[in-house]
Amino acid sequence: MTTCTPISDAIGVAVSGLSTEDFRTPQIADQCRELLHRHGVVVYREAHISDADLVTFSRALGEVVVAKAGAHPDYPEISPVSLDPAKSHLAGLRRSTIFWHADGLMDAVPQKATLLTARDVADDGGDTEFANTYAAYGALPEARKAELSAHRVVHSVAASQLLLNPEPTPEQRAAWNRSPSREHPLVWRHLDGRHSLLIGATAGEIVGMTPEDGRALLDELLDWTTQPQFVLRHRWTVGDLVVWDNTGMLHRAIPYEPTSPRLMHRTTLVGEEEIA
Ligand code: OGA
Ligand code: MN
Repeated sequence: MTTCTPISDAIGVAVSGLSTEDFRTPQIADQCRELLHRHGVVVYREAHISDADLVTFSRALGEVVVAKAGAHPDYPEISPVSLDPAKSHLAGLRRSTIFWHADGLMDAVPQKATLLTARDVADDGGDTEFANTYAAYGALPEARKAELSAHRVVHSVAASQLLLNPEPTPEQRAAWNRSPSREHPLVWRHLDGRHSLLIGATAGEIVGMTPEDGRALLDELLDWTTQPQFVLRHRWTVGDLVVWDNTGMLHRAIPYEPTSPRLMHRTTLVGEEEIA
């Protein structure tokens, strides 16, 4: 029997009782799309989805990103997520996943959703937290919403890497700067009338503000958004599959040892809605 239980008012729904073959059916994909819209994060407990079914399910939800580097040898759509360089070429860059972020904010159209399934878990740490910026924005006073709507924000690799390494060498800085930065409105006005916030680790400055004032505004919004009522913390069990709406959920990994066995298999869906 499958059960579907909201986790809190603002974020998350848990679905239990599905197994890998269920993810081949269009009904489960349709339900997932609806749950993502309503709850932001869908937790399929101990679904033990196979790699082949993860790809099939992801394709049923949208166009799947094929990673340029570091993909699974048999499935180019799947990226192994680990901090262990022996398991993932991107282990070094992934260290910044411990800071609140959304995926792909340096792209013109950020990814629509991300799917992460636990193949192995950490003994200590390694939970994933999510924060719903749709809910956080919705709870702001109207006057504050109006003030925020005028701002634009610059996202860059450098901003997130500076959090780990505040005093980079000129070579390190030059390497970060090879990834182009991207300017977005601070508030994303969606076609369905909802609003989300384009904040997180990659947000480095607010256009037209001093670095200090921009930082203060970004910190204020991040503090507001990551209040407990907007946050879901997921403690992983092997076989869990979590899908999040990347157009409005910030997320972060709780730190864990790079040598821990934690290994996630991840797919991402190409963004469908332009930022406006
Ligand atoms: C990601 C990510 C968090 C985690 O894969 O985009 O941020 O808990 N992962 O591994
Ligand atoms: Mn991420």
